[in-house]
Amino acid sequence: MLRAAASAAAGYAYSPYSGLRVGAAGLCDDGRLVMGCNVENASYGLTLCAETTMAGQLRLTGGGRFVAVACRSGDGIALTPCGRCRQVLYELGGPTCLVDTPDGVRPLDELLPAAFGPGQLP
Ligand code: THU
Repeated sequence: MLRAAASAAAGYAYSPYSGLRVGAAGLCDDGRLVMGCNVENASYGLTLCAETTMAGQLRLTGGGRFVAVACRSGDGIALTPCGRCRQVLYELGGPTCLVDTPDGVRPLDELLPAAFGPGQLP
């Protein structure tokens, strides 16, 4: 279900520069499903990854925490979240959040070990 939702979300991508459509889907701790897609920019560096727009959707649709996340290309290929997106997911899902990767489902703390997180702020 999560994987299919991520593939569907990729259909909404705006990616005229890379041509790579990316969709993300997240299962929330209240059972909600939220999605995101990448939104590129002519400046390149201001591009928003699918996971970051999904983070906005989490907040816009009621908040909560991510329990599991999947990312897919428009062709349905599993994609691993980039480093920045791992940090964004860590904020809203924490170390136990499950992430679907090409190597299988893995907890976020395997993908982002020794993470900097909210617990390290005074
Ligand atoms: N991209 C994502 O949406 N998520 C990631 O985790 C990695 C990369 C997007 C950004 C850009 O629009 C395209 O993939 C190529 O890098």
